[in-house]
Amino acid sequence: MEKIRTLRGFRDIVGEELEKFRRVEAVFRGHCGILGFREIELPVLEKTELFVRSIGDTTDIVEKEMFTFTDIGGDSLTMRPEATAGMVRSYLQEGLHAKERMTKVFTMGPMFRHERPQKGRYREFHQIDVEVFGVKEPLVDAELIWMIRMFLGELGVEKYRIEVNSVGCKTCRESFRGVLVDFFETRKGELCEDCLRRLERNPLRIFDCKNEQCIRVTGDSPFLFDSLCGECRDHFELFQGYIEDFGVSVETNKRLVRGLDYYTKTVFEVTSDDLGAQKAFIAGGRYDNLVGEMGGPATAGIGFAVGVERLVMLLAPLSGKTEKRCFFAHVGDQARGRLIPLLKASAARGINLLYSYEAKSLKSQMRYADNLGCGFVLILGDDEIQKGVIVLRDMTGKTQHELPLDPEKAIEELERLNGL
Ligand code: HAM
Repeated sequence: MEKIRTLRGFRDIVGEELEKFRRVEAVFRGHCGILGFREIELPVLEKTELFVRSIGDTTDIVEKEMFTFTDIGGDSLTMRPEATAGMVRSYLQEGLHAKERMTKVFTMGPMFRHERPQKGRYREFHQIDVEVFGVKEPLVDAELIWMIRMFLGELGVEKYRIEVNSVGCKTCRESFRGVLVDFFETRKGELCEDCLRRLERNPLRIFDCKNEQCIRVTGDSPFLFDSLCGECRDHFELFQGYIEDFGVSVETNKRLVRGLDYYTKTVFEVTSDDLGAQKAFIAGGRYDNLVGEMGGPATAGIGFAVGVERLVMLLAPLSGKTEKRCFFAHVGDQARGRLIPLLKASAARGINLLYSYEAKSLKSQMRYADNLGCGFVLILGDDEIQKGVIVLRDMTGKTQHELPLDPEKAIEELERLNGL
């Protein structure tokens, strides 16, 4: 019979990769705690409209990447492609805007996008998402970038670039739209079908196109950054000043646009050349209109998301097993009778006591202990019971000790002798 496999772009996360995932999550939780962020859990499934309205109906995500289906009740539902939309929904639904002047929250979990899978790009992937609501001042933009640097520092990730840009506000974008349309009109013949449509509906999205010819055309286009209004320019300059005060080095990349429509002013991406084609492993920015557009009071917002799969690829191998483990090799019924008390005594002290479920010869149990990577073994047979001891043998065969037969005392002694 044919074996059932995971869906294309969906993966099991196991072994060392999973350990790295857990490490990333733990380090991140630590930093979020220090900086006053609260964790929240969001549903994976939401109304399709939530994403269409927030991410934008002319974005690649909404146009072609969402896992959308109609449920048996006839409602259109979508597996979340990102977390910001759900965070905003929750912020409003929980009434946080009325309770707090400023809200700092984070969440972690799987996101779903129907993209063409390749290294670092999956249909199910994981994000750690951080959002701050209610702060207009660019100090928080700089603070978030500093937070990212601290977090990467603790994980030992050192080779990366932080690129920043400003995509302005509605005013800058409206006045720039004319400039952009005039430019692309002169190069219409070189644009793909999709971009011709974008030119009509949302010309800024042409910068997202992956078609090589369109990328060449955008290379010659004017930059929105050079048409920022006074307020957006001041905001960006203040942000740069704060970034300097934090001592974080960033590069301004006027070409940086983001694939989601809600951004205003500051946007940023953290990239690494060690990742291949999918270079960005953290990305985010400000979205000062989104809460208002989703039906709430005008509230500034800013945040970022870490692509956990991509970040994990940058981590060095985890060193030194911290797990406490030992093998119990036993021969005969009397010795087997000691297994459960020893197991209970080990668990109480946080030691993983491994053993063979079936009765096997001592030789075969020793081989098994070796395969499991246990550094030492407790040995108990009729002779030892007669002597009132449990033998502790170092697997290299160099040392051997006699421990008391009493399970609690034996495990206590085991810890003492082996620095467990
Ligand atoms: P995004 O740039 O769409 O932004 O995604 C953020 C990060 O998620 C990317 O930089 C990447 O590391 C990871 N990512 C995205 N798609 C995939 C994929 N198919 N496979 C693996 N990793 C992927 C957002 O999602 C915004 N919500 C970020 C944000 C939060 N902005 C403000 N607050």
